[in-house]
Amino acid sequence: IIIISACNYYLMEEFELEDIPGVGRITAKKLRAAGIRSPRFLTMLNPEELMEIADIDNPIKAARIIREAKRLYGIEMKPISAREFKEEYLKWDTISFNVKALDELTRGGISVKELVEFAGEFGSGKTQICHQLAVTAQLPPSKGGVAGSVVYIDTERTFSPGRIEKIAERFGLDNALNNIYLFRPTTVTDLEECVFKLYNLIEEKNVRLVIVDSIIALYRAQLKGMEWLARRQQRLNYVIDFLKRYAERFNLAVVYTNQVLQQLNLPHITMKLPAGGNIIAHAATHRFLLKYAKDDTRIITVFDSPRLPRNASVQFRITEQGLMDVE
Ligand code: GTP
Ligand code: MG
Repeated sequence: IIIISACNYYLMEEFELEDIPGVGRITAKKLRAAGIRSPRFLTMLNPEELMEIADIDNPIKAARIIREAKRLYGIEMKPISAREFKEEYLKWDTISFNVKALDELTRGGISVKELVEFAGEFGSGKTQICHQLAVTAQLPPSKGGVAGSVVYIDTERTFSPGRIEKIAERFGLDNALNNIYLFRPTTVTDLEECVFKLYNLIEEKNVRLVIVDSIIALYRAQLKGMEWLARRQQRLNYVIDFLKRYAERFNLAVVYTNQVLQQLNLPHITMKLPAGGNIIAHAATHRFLLKYAKDDTRIITVFDSPRLPRNASVQFRITEQGLMDVE
């Protein structure tokens, strides 16, 4: 019942393709055939992309459709004062980890409209963090969540429904699995397709968090070697760029995991750094590095962030019920 009423509420303020001035029945049909059901999706495309997706051969027409769609939602490029921005930005919803140390480190959790990367070696807790957030995002704001559903893109085959249930039980959340939409792409092409096609789901199901675990594995496995490097980076960039657009337009948070590479090997220092080169380095708003501490304890460090202190770190535990504070 809750889901249905949420959808109705949402549909009330939604526009039809035909509401876009200049889009008649024929163009609307073409757009729908390409999977574009909502004018809102158009607002995040460039004319070149629209031409390609919807088989429109006139760049002027493609540009006009996008411009008019943006006008419907009042989206326009105009400056706001830094003060206005600050006020707006303080209102952005956050998804709490429900772990005191992690919430303190991140100043309240994961913010919508931002991309967050968790990098670390195997077993460092990346996937566990994803599971925890997939649950806490569903909690009501009074409990630190955003009462949204979650898209979970599992490229590593490590998503665990059992784990979700355990974590959900701890937070008194029923039906947590129903509000997680799982994709299991096996190729880079699958991943691209699922990311580009997310918009309908995001709109219909009130998705507030998109998780990709991991962002890099398929690219590293399938576009190997120096001869593919440029192509690999280009395709990776495109997927990440699309995630960024969703984050901005749909007011949702994006979380992805990354592997680490042994990069620095000096006589007394071995440092593992996040993989993915320049593209990944500049993509996320906040980047965190995870490391083993002792037993079930892990250390998380701010690797890069515009507002969190670099190198700040805290510890947390991985338990049967998900992430916990260290006593
Ligand atoms: P890779 O994906 O292999 O790179 O690692 P990761 O960083 O995603 O590691 P993950 O988040 O899967 O963390 C794995 C660690 O979580 C393991 O070392 C386990 O100690 C712990 N863990 C995983 N599942 C459970 C569980 O059901 N109960 C408990 N207590 N710990 C678990
Ligand atoms: Mg993992």
